[in-house]
Amino acid sequence: MDHFLYRDGMLFAEDVAVSEIAETVGTPFYLYSTATLLRHYRLFDEALDGIDHLVCYAMKAASNQAILKTLAQAGAGMDVVSGGEYQRAIAAGVPGDRIVFSGVGKTADEIRLALTHGIRQFNVESEPELRVLSAVAHDMGKTAPITIRVNPDVDAKTHAKIATGKSENKFGIPIASARDVYALAGSLPGIDVMGIDVHIGSQLTDLAPFELAYTKVAELTEQLRADGHNIRRLDLGGGLGIPYTRSNDAPPLPMEYGALIKKCVGHLGVEVEIEPGRLIAGNAGIMVSKVIYVKHGEGRDFLIVDGAMNDLIRPAMYEAHHDIIPVVEPAPGVDQAPYDIVGPVCETGDTFARQRNMPPLVAGDLIAFRGAGAYGAVMASEYNTRPLIPEVLVHGDQFAVIRPRPTFDEIINRDTIPAWL
Ligand code: LLP
Repeated sequence: MDHFLYRDGMLFAEDVAVSEIAETVGTPFYLYSTATLLRHYRLFDEALDGIDHLVCYAMKAASNQAILKTLAQAGAGMDVVSGGEYQRAIAAGVPGDRIVFSGVGKTADEIRLALTHGIRQFNVESEPELRVLSAVAHDMGKTAPITIRVNPDVDAKTHAKIATGKSENKFGIPIASARDVYALAGSLPGIDVMGIDVHIGSQLTDLAPFELAYTKVAELTEQLRADGHNIRRLDLGGGLGIPYTRSNDAPPLPMEYGALIKKCVGHLGVEVEIEPGRLIAGNAGIMVSKVIYVKHGEGRDFLIVDGAMNDLIRPAMYEAHHDIIPVVEPAPGVDQAPYDIVGPVCETGDTFARQRNMPPLVAGDLIAFRGAGAYGAVMASEYNTRPLIPEVLVHGDQFAVIRPRPTFDEIINRDTIPAWL
């Protein structure tokens, strides 16, 4: 459930008309709902009720300071994957002991940064990383709390570009060699082995792969304990999928996911962390765009809109589907016609939808791309010198621009001209 609904024939975000925001901010823009963000965070928090847990929002999904602050104030921790994300989390007021550092390529500088300001744990992904972490921590006179990310060789049954839990993927250490790597970790200075980490992919719409992975992690916990490691924390990653279409079967609910976690690892007496990103932010955000032209082509009609692949790259990159709805609610029973919905960027990949049925639209009409809150704004670029589009946050009947649209001067003046020119 989200808070983008029609009211009296107009699309609202909570208690604000989307058209009113469009008039103030101009199009295109991203629009997030505070109530939806909080609702989704709380669904996870409640799903893990009864066991010691922390929901660490995977901020790669949407990392605006206002979004981070909203979630952090509700009690969320953060999962970060770069020094930049770590600094964003700290700037948003997240205490270091609620920040988890994931990622396959942490540099010594990033490790030092996190050890200086505080970290809940590093999720270590390889033996070389473990050695660098040990050396940096030891050198600083600190102890780095860690889990080791294991690769359980499980097929997440999702898009190949976002599956991470198969042995051919770059992530984690093979679960079969985990005991050796834990033995090494236990012997290195500056390292405190806290637990195990696993993350098998994103947009999972079935609980079975999670169950396979979590069962393997539970078995490993017992083996590692028998080997003498004090395994007291399991980071079970993110990945629960969201409904991108209203017609599709709904993916499992956080409550069902939570029940599965309790079933798989509840008996171990561990503290559980999860790292959801998409489910918290995805349906809490839309991208609002305006029709520039309706172009009648040979055998197909195009809606050319002012948003483009540089603003929302998911359709071009993952063949992703986003529901696209008009901001003015179509009259019941109105005739729909198929359109290709495309942006102004000069490549055919700049296509949001092919032959999508839409009610009659004319130049100037507003449309909304649903499910755009996760991996939307954060993956945007300025390709074609199109400014990064603004982000707006709604809270009840209030709204605020949380990232303004840059001016062309700001964009152009970021370049510097060498002396020889
Ligand atoms: N934890 C780790 C270690 C991750 O790599 C990810 C996502 C998450 C948590 C959060 O997963 P989520 O709950 O959001 O599924 N850009 C792609 C998605 C990339 C996901 C990368 N890792 C997309 O637009 O579909």
